[in-house]
Amino acid sequence: MGVDEEPRKLPELAPEQRRVLVVNAKGGCGKTTLTTNLAALYASLAVETALVDHDPQGSSSQWLKARDPSRPPIQGIAPWKESNAGHTTRTFQMRLAFSARRVVIDTPAALSASDFGRWLGEADRILIPVLPSSIDIKAGARFIGDLLLDRHYRQRSIPLAVVANRVRRNTLVFQKLERFLISLRIPFVATFRDLQGYVRAAEMGDGLFELPRGKDRHEWDAFARLLEWIEAPAVARVPRGGSQPAAAVNR
Ligand SMILES: Nc1ncnc2c1ncn2[C@@H]1O[C@H](COP(=O)(O)OP(=O)(O)O)[C@@H](O)[C@H]1O
Ligand SMILES: [Mg+2]
Repeated sequence: MGVDEEPRKLPELAPEQRRVLVVNAKGGCGKTTLTTNLAALYASLAVETALVDHDPQGSSSQWLKARDPSRPPIQGIAPWKESNAGHTTRTFQMRLAFSARRVVIDTPAALSASDFGRWLGEADRILIPVLPSSIDIKAGARFIGDLLLDRHYRQRSIPLAVVANRVRRNTLVFQKLERFLISLRIPFVATFRDLQGYVRAAEMGDGLFELPRGKDRHEWDAFARLLEWIEAPAVARVPRGGSQPAAAVNR
């Protein structure tokens, strides 16, 4: 890529609502980081944005609480917090959150694929962050394999994509994952680097691009690719044969 080349343009946003569910059974793979940065990016585009935090640890709710009121607004909702507040309130809040044009949904770790079947009804896109270690890749592949077989998923067959997170260098470790994803026709849409900026932004309630000098070119292009995938019309995923998806990577 030439130095003078323009940063990737963000795509036009689809007119209809998109709800992006960020999941992976593994903790620490970047679900909250992706959720908050995606919400901040949509908000910066003056799009009505909601952030749903399904994780009782509340990391993305805390991020939102730390967010400076002068930043583009994001509507937050933590359904687990409302559990004592009565069904009507909760339903009402959920409806509010889900009337936003873009909804980004954070989920807890330690879920099996079937555990989060109940949230699939809230999603138009499923995004799975994976860290570049072979243990994480195997776990990610297993998670995806289970998800594809889950009856909730099979009922709706929502487009899903994988992103790599905290990548330090061009790494061969993803080749196996890439082959696995190709065999399942699952897009591997972007690679995010390991940057201190993400940690700083997380503390301040900011997105990376809201930090002074935070507009890292590589990350910008990665988010642009991610948005292209989110905003594109859904494409039916037709796996090539493959009856034993997880086996390919687990060997
Ligand atoms: N691309 C990244 N670069 C640097 N640090 C990151 C990156 N992604 C996540 N982190 C850090 O890794 C830790 C775990 O990330 P987090 O988003 O909380 O994962 P999860 O929500 O999946 O448990 C956090 O401290 C976060 O700031
Ligand atoms: Mg989290």
